[in-house]
Amino acid sequence: MRLLKHALVVIVSALGLLAAAIWLLPAERVKAVNDRVKFENRLTIPPELLPRDVNGEKVFDLAIQQGETEIVRSRQTKTLGFSGTLLGPTLRARKGDKLRINVTNSLDEPTTTHWHGMHLPAAMDGGPHQVIAPKETWQPHWTVTNDAATLWYHPHMMGATGRQVYRGLAGLFLIDDDSADRLGLPGEYGVDDIPLIVQDRKFDDRAQFVYDEPSKAPPGWLDNPVGMLGDTILVNGTRGPFLEVPARLVRLRILNGSNARRFNFGFADNRPFHQIATDGGLLAHPVGRTRLLLAPGERAEILLDLNKVETRLTLMSYAVRDDVDRVTGFLQRVLASGNDENEEFRILEIRPHRHTGKSAVMPNNLATLPAVDAGAVVTTRRFTLQFTGRTINGKSMDHERIDETVTMGDVERWDIVNESIAYHPFHIHGVQFRVLDRNGKPAPAYEQGWKDTVLVGPSETVRLIVQFASYADSTLPYMFHCHILEHEDLGMMGQFVVVGRAGR
Ligand code: C2O
Ligand code: CU
Ligand code: CU
Repeated sequence: MRLLKHALVVIVSALGLLAAAIWLLPAERVKAVNDRVKFENRLTIPPELLPRDVNGEKVFDLAIQQGETEIVRSRQTKTLGFSGTLLGPTLRARKGDKLRINVTNSLDEPTTTHWHGMHLPAAMDGGPHQVIAPKETWQPHWTVTNDAATLWYHPHMMGATGRQVYRGLAGLFLIDDDSADRLGLPGEYGVDDIPLIVQDRKFDDRAQFVYDEPSKAPPGWLDNPVGMLGDTILVNGTRGPFLEVPARLVRLRILNGSNARRFNFGFADNRPFHQIATDGGLLAHPVGRTRLLLAPGERAEILLDLNKVETRLTLMSYAVRDDVDRVTGFLQRVLASGNDENEEFRILEIRPHRHTGKSAVMPNNLATLPAVDAGAVVTTRRFTLQFTGRTINGKSMDHERIDETVTMGDVERWDIVNESIAYHPFHIHGVQFRVLDRNGKPAPAYEQGWKDTVLVGPSETVRLIVQFASYADSTLPYMFHCHILEHEDLGMMGQFVVVGRAGR
């Protein structure tokens, strides 16, 4: 009896200490994790790839290959890339283009190539059902109906997505259209229109990527918040990058290409910038901001006014601070080898230089977006993200099971309910949707544009308005999933088909 009482006292005080430790975690980290990193490498700009015209079709060729890349000075890191050794070219197409892409898999393992954010038939989507065997070529083709946007592409191989993306397989896919062209936004690729693929990585002492396979994590709820977190930031594959830009209005197209880490971007001097686009295209109006939180898979475009700026600017990622996140951060720190979500990073140094060209002017109006009309909803679905961090509506991904059947053309409301203690970016294939509200409050102005991935925080409910306008196929599904790639690989994914009115 006394022993039991004793044990109880020990357990209770241990729990107390743990709670105290969590609450006493520094509320604000003063130093960035990578404070010692010198911005000494010129930012690599992924080559822009324009399609070849073949009998009215616009054709791209991509080869998925292995290679070695000098990321750390005079060391070679084993990497993967599309038509190169690391990452992939920036594909560029126009709304209305008839596209065909030849994707050749030169790896010795199967993979897929998914066009994240693209509205296309399920058979062309590049999800887990469109496996490209080693040495094979896959030839998806579709007509671009997306508006001007910053989309991206990456592998989607069941159980291997996290590892394949981590080793380097990702690229941007830019869509142009006439109405965006008329705005006169900064549009000189690599000059005043800059792609930024931001990713965290971990290196061993031989300068090789370290990847913790999610399946090797301890089972049970404790591994829930853990995805692969690194301590080194790469931008377009460059470590410690600096960017020289003309001192004028500059557009940054930012992709959070990390496996699991959110970035809370902002400038070290807190200067304001304007967000002009979300995942799927331009916002109605520019939105002034000083911080930009992006979860894995999300993109944003911002305008940064560098007119008359002569000093160097540092793009940072700041800690995300709220109490629930601190608990998650603590668990991550303990369980994910010393890194957590609340760390601060120096991302990129921007060096403006004098120029003689003319600066673009920021327009007040960017795009006309249809109103988000909850009154048009005919079907409501609920997606519960569970505590275990591996299931949606209590189910783990099953290749053979169709979880939802959507009728083409119907306006639907998808309620994403996060019942877990970790955040999850919820992504839907084949569509751009709108955020109706967050915990009952209307989406903030910067989230009112087209989205394909939405951050759902612990205990949050985010309601989406979704409409699949075309491409019925009762046999081949699209995916919905958490875009923390380790969660996805562990099965936090489901499948839906889009059918015509007659159910076919
Ligand atoms: Cu970016 Cu289903 O993925
Ligand atoms: Cu996708
Ligand atoms: Cu998740």
